[in-house]
Amino acid sequence: MTTTDERTYWIRTFGCQMNEHDSERLAGLLEVQGYRKVDSPDDASVAVFNTCAIRENADNRLYGNLGRMKSVKEARPEMKIVVGGCLAEKDRDVIVRKAPWVDVVLGTRNIEALPGLLRKAEESGIPVVEFSETLNVFPSALPARRDKSFHAWVAIQYGCNNACTFCIVPSVRGVEASRRLGDVLGEVKQLCSTGVSEVTLLGQNVNSYGRDIYRTPKFADLLLALDGIEGLERVRYTSPHPKDFREPVARAMAESSVVCEHLHLPVQSGSSRLLKRMKRSYTREKYLEKLHMARELVDGLAVTTDIIVGFPGETEQDFEATMSLVEQARFDAAYTFKYSARPGTEAAEMDGQVAPEVVSRRFERLAALQQQISLELNEQMVDSTVQVMVEGPSKKNPDKVTGRTRTNKLVHFAAAAGQGELLEVKITGAAPSHLEGCLVG
Ligand code: 5AD
Ligand code: SF4
Repeated sequence: MTTTDERTYWIRTFGCQMNEHDSERLAGLLEVQGYRKVDSPDDASVAVFNTCAIRENADNRLYGNLGRMKSVKEARPEMKIVVGGCLAEKDRDVIVRKAPWVDVVLGTRNIEALPGLLRKAEESGIPVVEFSETLNVFPSALPARRDKSFHAWVAIQYGCNNACTFCIVPSVRGVEASRRLGDVLGEVKQLCSTGVSEVTLLGQNVNSYGRDIYRTPKFADLLLALDGIEGLERVRYTSPHPKDFREPVARAMAESSVVCEHLHLPVQSGSSRLLKRMKRSYTREKYLEKLHMARELVDGLAVTTDIIVGFPGETEQDFEATMSLVEQARFDAAYTFKYSARPGTEAAEMDGQVAPEVVSRRFERLAALQQQISLELNEQMVDSTVQVMVEGPSKKNPDKVTGRTRTNKLVHFAAAAGQGELLEVKITGAAPSHLEGCLVG
């Protein structure tokens, strides 16, 4: 238990990398105010939940967690509970109604307001709920407390102008707002001067980066401009939208020595009929064409994807189209999701919601197929030597370290090496979601 004069904080992050990025800023803001990080909400004077709204189980988990916080708050009424992120945007007033012991609710576009809102809640003794419809400060510009010393998330764009019928993101994160190229480059340079060697560029739709401020997309230019920054070894990015993914970006990936050979290109479905219902603006054929183009241009490219199973109206035939696309595309990995109806989205109102048993059966089949393909692709890597960046001790085996290849595959191997070190590793074994290796030399 902490004493009242010691300020401590704890943050739990749900959802995507953009939320991890924002959480690092929330942590940074609190550290500037003199708060120290602790490992449990039971010891924290400020407990933050940075939430996600993408699927229903994300909702349920938040309310379960807030339920558990009630007794913590009763035991230490002076502690503060903060809810931020996408679910905070979506549920605005619902949160303090369902969990009146929450002190601060803030949105995704005003995270810089956290210290002020905490003060307001302290002074007023009642919950403070505040949102912004526009992005005032680009959160990347805020102080950050990063989890890994060698890696930084760099947000280049907030919001999304697409209208995928299943997705809640445009309604919670608003329209696209890009950050100026010079600001992004300035931040990356500054990060690299403090020991960062890997950055992941983040945006909901990175291919249209720059369109809102420069009238024309600047993503390929950004990738090229990052090459040559001192100390920068690896650049990753997520997520591109297949409809806007074009040759200049693939060429920039091929040309740049720092941009990694990994493309996460969410397909969602292999059925053109369903893609149309999803308003994805591409067909199965178009997607496969883009994939082919990327693989032609970028040597050794690994491709991962997202797939939704059980979208409203998905017939057996549509699902078989997804299975055959997966066979054809041979993704290195796929994040597969059961469709979750999000109130307020177009798809939630559609006819043909698929029965849960049917969704589960299809989901299992798809996952098994992808596992098999992932394993086959990983097995092909056995005996090759790859460059691995160390992330830290292996969670499963403390005698080993875990790192990532440029293609974003996890490798476990024995070495006395610290975070961020680049090593040559020979691959000795393969599983569907990781590789085993041994140090070369
Ligand atoms: N149900 C299931 N999965 C979803 N995704 C987005 N919205 C939904 C939903 N309503 C998935 C998509 C997206 C990933 C981030 O989450 O596959 O690419
Ligand atoms: Fe990220 Fe979307 Fe979840 Fe928000 S709703 S945290 S943008 S995945």
